[in-house]
Amino acid sequence: MTAQAFWDRHAPKYAKTPIADVTAYEEKLECVTALLRSTDRVLEIGCGTGGTARKIAPVVAHVTATDLSAEMIRIARSRSGDDTAGTPEFLQAEAAQHIPGQPFEVACAFSLLHLVDDIPTVLDSVFHQMKPGGHFISKTVCLKDAPRWMRAMVRVLMAARIAPNVIILSRAELTRHLIRAGFEIEQTRYFGKNRLSPFIVARKPA
Ligand SMILES: C[S@@+](CC[C@H](N)C(=O)[O-])C[C@H]1O[C@@H](n2cnc3c(N)ncnc32)[C@H](O)[C@@H]1O
Repeated sequence: MTAQAFWDRHAPKYAKTPIADVTAYEEKLECVTALLRSTDRVLEIGCGTGGTARKIAPVVAHVTATDLSAEMIRIARSRSGDDTAGTPEFLQAEAAQHIPGQPFEVACAFSLLHLVDDIPTVLDSVFHQMKPGGHFISKTVCLKDAPRWMRAMVRVLMAARIAPNVIILSRAELTRHLIRAGFEIEQTRYFGKNRLSPFIVARKPA
């Protein structure tokens, strides 16, 4: 099964799944919005059903939110309502695709980088679509830092196609990927009890 087919099939259930740790999510959102200016053009890749993009859109000039899954994008658009002001533009696109509207001051990828086929290609693409001095914000699970039993369980779920194919990477590897792409790391932190999904703010040098 392709990644697109997997996410198209899981989109309706994903759309109904509540946020696991609302306090941690809101803390993350606060950190993201603290980095945003009202003039910013923002790109979010792997936006899912668009919840975060809809929260960011009212405080910036424009949000373009993309996802590989047509079904995720369909649900995201259906949740936006008719008011186009302060609403994200949702587009179906693969994470490495160049998107109209660049250069972006800010790019985000939440729970995405462990899912793409080739992290360096995605990071190179994002880097080239960003304005110098802009921020790239990522929060993604680093399963190489998880206990062995958890990695074994994920492999079983992947084989049974209950979980999508994931890259088992460590926070150190992810950091190296970002630096190799040209980014400087500004901060790395965690929210709530989760110590496997670092929130990383990287900057394209000015
Ligand atoms: C775990 S969900 C996260 C969604 C959202 N960012 C969030 O934090 O709720 C992963 C999303 O990434 C999308 N995705 C997976 N592989 C992708 C790729 N190669 N390019 C773009 N989107 C991808 C999936 O369709 C899905 O919507």
